[in-house]
Formats: sequence, structure tokens, C-alpha cells
Amino acid sequence: MKWFGVLGLVALSECLVTIPLTRIKSMRENLREKDELKDYLEKHPYNLAYKFVESVDPDTGVYYESMRNYLDLAYVGTIRIGTPPQEFKVIFDTGSSDLWVPSIYCSSPACANHNVFNPLLSTTFRVSGRPIHLQYGSGTMSGFLAYDTIRFEGLVDESQAFGLSLREPGKFMEYAVFDGILGLAYPSLSLQGTIPIFDNLWKQGLIAQELFAFYLSKKEEEGSVVMFGDVDHSYYRGDLNWVPVSKPFYWQLSMDSISVNGAVIACSGGCEAIIDTGTSLLIGPSSVVLNIQKIINAKRSYSGEYMIDCSTINTLPDIVFAINGVNYPVPASAYIREGQEGTCYSNFDEGRGGLFVSDSWILGDVFLRLYFTVFNRGNDTIGLAPAV
Ligand SMILES: *[C@@H]1O[C@H](CO)[C@@H](O)[C@H](O)[C@H]1NC(C)=O
Repeated sequence: MKWFGVLGLVALSECLVTIPLTRIKSMRENLREKDELKDYLEKHPYNLAYKFVESVDPDTGVYYESMRNYLDLAYVGTIRIGTPPQEFKVIFDTGSSDLWVPSIYCSSPACANHNVFNPLLSTTFRVSGRPIHLQYGSGTMSGFLAYDTIRFEGLVDESQAFGLSLREPGKFMEYAVFDGILGLAYPSLSLQGTIPIFDNLWKQGLIAQELFAFYLSKKEEEGSVVMFGDVDHSYYRGDLNWVPVSKPFYWQLSMDSISVNGAVIACSGGCEAIIDTGTSLLIGPSSVVLNIQKIINAKRSYSGEYMIDCSTINTLPDIVFAINGVNYPVPASAYIREGQEGTCYSNFDEGRGGLFVSDSWILGDVFLRLYFTVFNRGNDTIGLAPAV
């Protein structure tokens, strides 16, 4: 692993000369008006679960960060970086562990559509210059490492390591309804030698309990929240079932089975699942998911999505995920999403491109809308209860 040092700074100042700041404008609003974004999102739900990380070289201690729900496909919150603060929309992502936002030095089309961080305007900014490369289920970013103050909902996290992008190739970020990603998984998944946001907040004594929790709204644009330091009981019914984290890397747990009408259809004998707020859908091993598509009568369209007859939503059975002896049913109204012009899609998707070595599942927003989830770093457990 190499550090750029002086060389890096030279490279940065060169970029500065060649890239005019006037490129920074929002194309997203136009896209939204034209319905293109909606169309794109419907066909390309997010999967931010990390593939791998490669390093090329106030007083209560409880904080609520509200998130905006985009079409049930992404939940986006706002953070501020630097002094004075520069604002960014980020996904609070339990499937990764690093924070990054676009920089003014980024020349990819994606960066022209999004807010970009200008280090020259922040008095608390420190550059490390170390190159970074992050790969997500949906795409990649590369850039360099830096430190600055991060603020959200009253929390002030000083000297936080974060990434600034130089390149965001492909369509993944170009159409994204967020500027960057804020990872909340374990430090072992983060860029080597950096401390993730949650660990830094805890270390600085800023939060009351070593946990955070997500409530994801259904359809409503408002109302979604990630709470740090405490669990608000008004967001769920009954008691939380605490499930041990099976491998502290992702927020991963052991699942007992997946069944329909009492018959096991997948994960017989147990399997692993990752709880991921940064993934829109339910993702499983390819052959298993193909079988589930068959069971729920989802047919592959010419463009590769699995479509379902909307009128079957009221007749299809629940698909039941059993975890730690407790059943978590997912009804058809949750595993089918309605698109434009009366089309419906399956919310099951195949894990592609060797995302996981094993046959893991990713339980994304489809699952988390139904079940309020606590991510407890204090005793390495995940708490689940039906959401209100
Ligand atoms: C983990 O912590 C939660 C809350 O802090 C507690 O209710 C639960 O019983 C603990 N679970 C285990 C297995 O220790």
C-alpha cells in the first residue's frame, strides 16, 4: 500500500486547473421530470453490498437521521462534510463500511450530476492521498482517502476518514439518487487502516449505546429513519428477537430455512443471510432464486427482469424466512413491486458475479420495510421485530 504524499498533491492541483467548477449542476431533477429516473430505478434496483475492498496502494447520545424513500428502492439521508459544511445525500448502507462522496476532481459523467466536495473550501480538511478503489454489487468508484469533520443530525464526527472519488464509471452512480455512500458494517470490511463512522462516533463517546436501528417506510417518501444510540419502541410491534451475528464482517446471520405453505423451498439445513439497507431487493443464489421465480409465476422479460401478473398479488402465498426459530413472512404485496403502466416485477433477484463465496442471501429493503432492525455492536446481535 502506497501513500501519495507530495506527488498526490501535485496531481490534484493539475486536475484543479483542467476541471471547471461550473460543471456542477443537477441533472437529476430533469431526469425525474422525464420519468427516466423512475424507469431506470425500476429496472436497476440498488445492490450496495460490498464485493470486496481493494486498496491499490449532544447530551442524550441518541440521534435520529431521517431518510427520504425513493420509490421503495433507495433510502437517502443528508450529511455535511467540512468547515464550513458542504452537503451530500448518502445511503446509510449496512452492506459496506466506508464513507465516500464525489470530489471536484472527478471527471466521470456521474459526478457532473451530483454534489461534489471541494477540499479547498474546508479549513478542517486533511488529505492522505492514498488511492482507494471500492467495488459494490452495482458498480465501482475509485479515488483517494482524506479526513474531515462529518456532521449529521447534531452529531459531529471529527477527523473522519472518508473517500473522495476521482472516477465513478458506468451508469450505476450516474442515475443514483444519492451522491455517496455511508457504510455501517464492521471495521473488518472497511479500507485497511481506517476507522468507520460508527466506530469513530462510539470511540468519541458521542452515542449512548453501541447500536443503531433502521425503520424503512412503505411507499411514503417521508418517515424513514436511522437512529443512533437507542431503540425507539414506537417503530415496532411486540418484542425484538435477538439473533447473533454469525460473522462480524457484514451484518450477517444464520437463517434456518425458506418455506412456502409449510414446505421448505430453499435454505434447507440452514444458510447465511446478510442484512443490507443498501440493497433494494431480496437476493439469493441463482438456482434457488430461479426456482422461487417459478413458484411465484414470475417470467423473464426480454430485458432480463422477472415480471409477474399484478392480479396475482392477492392470491400468491407468503414466503417465510425462518431465523433463529422465528418466522418472518414476506407477503406477495412485499415481494412484488408495481411499476409503471400496470406492470409488476418480482423483488427476488439472483446474486451475480461472485458477490459471495458461499450461498448467502442478501435481505434488502424489501425485508427491512416489514421488519424493524437493530444493529447491535455492543453484543454483536441483530434485533428483529415487525415494523409498525
Ligand atoms: C443484546 O443486547 C440487547 C440490548 O442491548 C439485549 O436486549 C439482548 O438481550 C442482548 N442479547 C444477547 C444475546 O446478549
